[in-house]
Amino acid sequence: MGSLYAALKPPTTTSKTIARGVSKVFVMPPTRTDYQLPIAAERRLDLFVRHVEANPGNLITASEVSELEDAMDVGSVEPTLPAGMSGEDFTGVLKLALLTECATDTYAHAIASRAHAYDATWLERFTLETWAPDEHTHHEPFGHMLRSLGFSDAEMDREMRETQEQIYVHGAGDTPAHITAYAMIQEYLTDHWHGLIGTLTREAAPVASKMASRVKQRETLHAMWYRDMTAMQVEADPSLLSHVAEAVVHFHMPGKIILPELEEHVPHLLSVARADLDELVRGLIRLVESLLPDTRSAGALLMEVASAKGMRFGPVSAGQVHAALGRLGGPGYGLIGEALLDRAGLSYLYRKSDTASRWGQGDPFTGRLRAMLREWVASQIDLRLGFPVMPDAAP
Ligand SMILES: [Fe+2]
Ligand SMILES: [Fe+2]
Repeated sequence: MGSLYAALKPPTTTSKTIARGVSKVFVMPPTRTDYQLPIAAERRLDLFVRHVEANPGNLITASEVSELEDAMDVGSVEPTLPAGMSGEDFTGVLKLALLTECATDTYAHAIASRAHAYDATWLERFTLETWAPDEHTHHEPFGHMLRSLGFSDAEMDREMRETQEQIYVHGAGDTPAHITAYAMIQEYLTDHWHGLIGTLTREAAPVASKMASRVKQRETLHAMWYRDMTAMQVEADPSLLSHVAEAVVHFHMPGKIILPELEEHVPHLLSVARADLDELVRGLIRLVESLLPDTRSAGALLMEVASAKGMRFGPVSAGQVHAALGRLGGPGYGLIGEALLDRAGLSYLYRKSDTASRWGQGDPFTGRLRAMLREWVASQIDLRLGFPVMPDAAP
């Protein structure tokens, strides 16, 4: 697998890292380590990766970026920014994109070493031979944009080198199911970060906007690839839903570990850039729902996440509801899944599903009671699932 593979280190859950001179100790929570896919599922995943290898889509080439270098001038963007957003804020948005994108090899190591530890050759190969080369050009447009704002190559090279030297500690689970679910969320959020840059530059720097959108399109595709990989694993072994839940619960953007100072500004940047966080969460719920076999699984996943996050449903803790539903064999999870989709404005998803075909049919009293219960549960759901702020950008 070449030099990249040779440098792989075994996964670690506890590590000390020096971030820009600030010593930080990250102690990561224990996560499940059980993982055994049937051979037929491994083969399916391998075939899927072969399909992606043969059809990687419209990759961004270095020459494509360099040809547009001068046209990516964002010097006239500041007066067109939303009221309350400063030029410094805009620079922060671009810097976060540049620096998180430049650390591709760090993330590739983290993913491939875990895939290797679990003999998931499909994920290891995908990461090193398809995903990492795809990502390697993504930071370049943001470098050109920052250069047009007066940042020197020397300054950016130093910051990128420092970022690449940071030790990344992954705390959202190590099995391939954890990793693909984590990567799906990470790619989804990065997709939106680049989309934000595309929106902020659309009026005053259309070429820069177009390039940010090009990078965004790659992230959209990556999120879909990881979504499909996760769905195939959960389909082969439904108990892996717990691994997916852990990846959601312990999710952290890599910037939190390798770019802590910049990451701290993300809530402010999202706010001044007028990012629609509810829409962001709605899209994420839609994405996770699309990898699950049914609405009941969405309910079960929500309850695992809500329990771990210490969320409450009115007077009752999510953990107590989860335990009660588990003892009942879980028929109530379908109702909770429907409530989650209702709360996110996605009720059409369950209304067209198997659950929906039964919805409202039969005994009208039961149907009305179910609708009332669902409405109450929906009103109790914290749509942001207990995450106080939305995370930053990543590759
Ligand atoms: Fe990506
Ligand atoms: Fe990327």
